[in-house]
Amino acid sequence: VLLLKPQTLPFSFLSEKRKDDDDKKVVAEIMKRCFVPTFITTTSWEGFHFVGHEIRITEAKDCYGAVVWPSALVLCYFLETNVKQYNMVDKNVIEIGAGTGLVSIVASLLGAHVTATDLPELLGNLQYNLSRNTKMKCKHLPQVKELSWGVALDKNFPRSSSCFDYILAADVVYAHPFLDELLLTFEHLCRETTVILWVMKFRLEKENRFVDRFQELFDLEEISSFPSLNIKLFKAMKKNRRNA
Ligand SMILES: C[S@@+](CC[C@H](N)C(=O)[O-])C[C@H]1O[C@@H](n2cnc3c(N)ncnc32)[C@H](O)[C@@H]1O
Repeated sequence: VLLLKPQTLPFSFLSEKRKDDDDKKVVAEIMKRCFVPTFITTTSWEGFHFVGHEIRITEAKDCYGAVVWPSALVLCYFLETNVKQYNMVDKNVIEIGAGTGLVSIVASLLGAHVTATDLPELLGNLQYNLSRNTKMKCKHLPQVKELSWGVALDKNFPRSSSCFDYILAADVVYAHPFLDELLLTFEHLCRETTVILWVMKFRLEKENRFVDRFQELFDLEEISSFPSLNIKLFKAMKKNRRNA
């Protein structure tokens, strides 16, 4: 096993064995997936390499959801390097707080049926990035849908018909006033068999306590930790499942 390069090891293995040095190596490997255009263009975009594709993401610097956050890179890398354990092919996947859409694009390239969601003002850029990077490249074209946390969940995502295999979330916990609504949204979308893959950037104590509240409703497993980024990757499932 020691002969394998760190980036080829599954995260679960790394989380048990890795020390600080390994953390930095994997983080460097993740960050190598980004590139910036070498020529000047009229629109600003950033490039990423995942699942054998060059992905171009248009960003806007004026709002949270319009840039790609490191947590999104961590989740993309995890999905790409753990396809055996977390196979996305034909799976029903929803991403909340999708922002620029990088995670949804990677899940789509891996074969999932993806619904990428965010606030209404983000959806134009999200749709643009998804279309540009998935047309003719994916088994299932991703959908874009408004999901403001806690708002009209029963109407827009009825429990009877919304059945997701995975809920993906990258950097959705920070200093915003919707943490209660966010928890409600996780709870509403999650069925007995749904797996939540959630990447959390730890910043302020107040927001960090969200993890404790989350654990009252969900069984939480830390899959990987990146101390140099203050980021953790969690897997969660509903508590008290019949077949747990
Ligand atoms: C820090 S950004 C992360 C974006 C993306 N997941 C990433 O990691 O690059 C947080 C995202 O949550 C979204 N968001 C914030 N408050 C929200 C709310 N009340 N309902 C739905 N989405 C929200 C923002 O629009 C933004 O896209």
